Amino acid sequence: MQPFDSLPSPVQKVLLQLEEKDRKEREVGLDRLQRLRQIPRETGEFLFQFLLTFSSQFPDFVGLEIGTSGGYSTIWQGMALVKNDHGRLISLDHDPKKFQFASKNITSIEVSQFIELIHGDAKDYLKKSQEKFNYVFLDCEKEDYLYFFNLLVNRLSRGTVLIADNVISHADDMQEFIIQIKGDSKVSSVILPVGRGLAFVRWI
Ligand SMILES: C[S@@+](CC[C@H](N)C(=O)[O-])C[C@H]1O[C@@H](n2cnc3c(N)ncnc32)[C@H](O)[C@@H]1O
Repeated sequence: MQPFDSLPSPVQKVLLQLEEKDRKEREVGLDRLQRLRQIPRETGEFLFQFLLTFSSQFPDFVGLEIGTSGGYSTIWQGMALVKNDHGRLISLDHDPKKFQFASKNITSIEVSQFIELIHGDAKDYLKKSQEKFNYVFLDCEKEDYLYFFNLLVNRLSRGTVLIADNVISHADDMQEFIIQIKGDSKVSSVILPVGRGLAFVRWI
């Protein structure tokens, strides 16, 4: 069985609608900042499977997603928390239209009680918030990955996992980030050929 097939049909319906919208936007060549630019289904299924087992290890699991867009990846991750009836995912987007669209998609299905959507810049949020995260999914502008890693590296503790998308599809833009995660002794990392390429970084 594919993970997608295990989801309730109202959730499948919203995911299919988002997949179709993303596909059409790419096909007509809509400006990249306006597009959803969402993860492929394979990545959603991987995040879902990973969080199903990983999140249950923490009594008060808190995840952070940087880059909600229309909520496609948020729904995949949130569904793992729904299945476990456990944990919280905070997801941020600074684009007001994307935030509104994601809010609509997420409140339409039974996942919203596990997800806190925040409209705002993740850089400002992380400077102010005292929240302790067990997991981070990074899917924002690629030139900001290094900034976010440097901001989080001393704040996250042993056992935390950060997953960053697009490290194979945007390998040239990611070089500094990859060099940093490979060279930092506080973390160990591997690159997974899932979807557009995921960096899987674990605090040791
Ligand atoms: C690649 S899209 C995210 C796709 C989404 N994760 C999905 O798979 O459905 C990147 C999103 O990050 C948002 N973003 C970029 N920089 C940000 C920042 N500093 N703070 C909050 N959101 C940001 C953009 O507005 C955009 O919607």
